[in-house]
Amino acid sequence: MHKVAVVTGASSGIGKACALALLQDGWRVALVGRRSDALQQTLAEAGAHSGNALAFSTDVCNDQEVASMFQSVVQKWGRVDLLFNNAGISLPHTLPGDMAVDSWRKAVDTNLNGAFYCLSHAFKQMQTQTPQGGRIINNGSISAHAPRPGSIAYTATKHAISGLTRAANLDGRAFDIAVGQIDIGNVASDMTERMANGILQADGSIKPEARMDMSSVVETFMTMAKLPLSSNILFVTVMANKMPFVGRG
Ligand SMILES: NC(=O)c1ccc[n+]([C@@H]2O[C@H](COP(=O)([O-])OP(=O)(O)OC[C@H]3O[C@@H](n4cnc5c(N)ncnc54)[C@H](OP(=O)(O)O)[C@@H]3O)[C@@H](O)[C@H]2O)c1
Repeated sequence: MHKVAVVTGASSGIGKACALALLQDGWRVALVGRRSDALQQTLAEAGAHSGNALAFSTDVCNDQEVASMFQSVVQKWGRVDLLFNNAGISLPHTLPGDMAVDSWRKAVDTNLNGAFYCLSHAFKQMQTQTPQGGRIINNGSISAHAPRPGSIAYTATKHAISGLTRAANLDGRAFDIAVGQIDIGNVASDMTERMANGILQADGSIKPEARMDMSSVVETFMTMAKLPLSSNILFVTVMANKMPFVGRG
């Protein structure tokens, strides 16, 4: 039996790599993102497995679009076994007093509201399907634990993801819904391109930071995804080992 996964942000970076790994492992995968050309590229890279993938050009900030995407997935494949709640954005360095309300709202809409809409629809589906249950993996960040300078919106939304994880995990127990969180530090992706050249540190200096290969994230994600529903990795931190996090710099 093919298991069914929904991966948000499957048009690039972490979501794309994890979606391709699920397809390789025999899952049916809904690829979700706003850019349909980039989703088509993910499909193309799935090669022989592309028959088990569907691309959904969906904005996670729009609850109606998210609802209709989940409806289509269930119509086509009957259930949802896994949600990788991964779509997210970061913002340029901004001090709290200079943050435009629109930028703040965009970060909250994407990283928190969007993640909640997807979690909520997945939860309802997993609660009501037979057999009951499923797994939700939220993509947090090192920023769910410690901020970078000038990152109030990203940090606040990623701290909020930890709240989603804990609350949904507790509420999911009764329905065999396992909710966990992967907190990633500096994987090589579009989002972290600038870290290779030099990024502002807490002491005001600019320094390049170590990044890790995507394969470490994919391996960790797949370990979480493939656990039986009686087990859960509640939180895991997978990070470039030499990045400035542990040790206050
Ligand atoms: N890279 C890292 O080291 C790192 C570290 C910690 C946490 N993370 C987290 O990992 C996640 C993925 O980041 P990444 O590094 O893979 O960055 P990325 O390559 O920029 O990917 C971000 C993905 O999110 C999707 N997305 C953004 N807004 C969306 C929206 N409104 N609706 C639907 N999809 C949307 C994008 O697709 P479209 O543009 O096609 O919509 C894209 O596929 C984010 O939540 C990020 O915070 C990354």
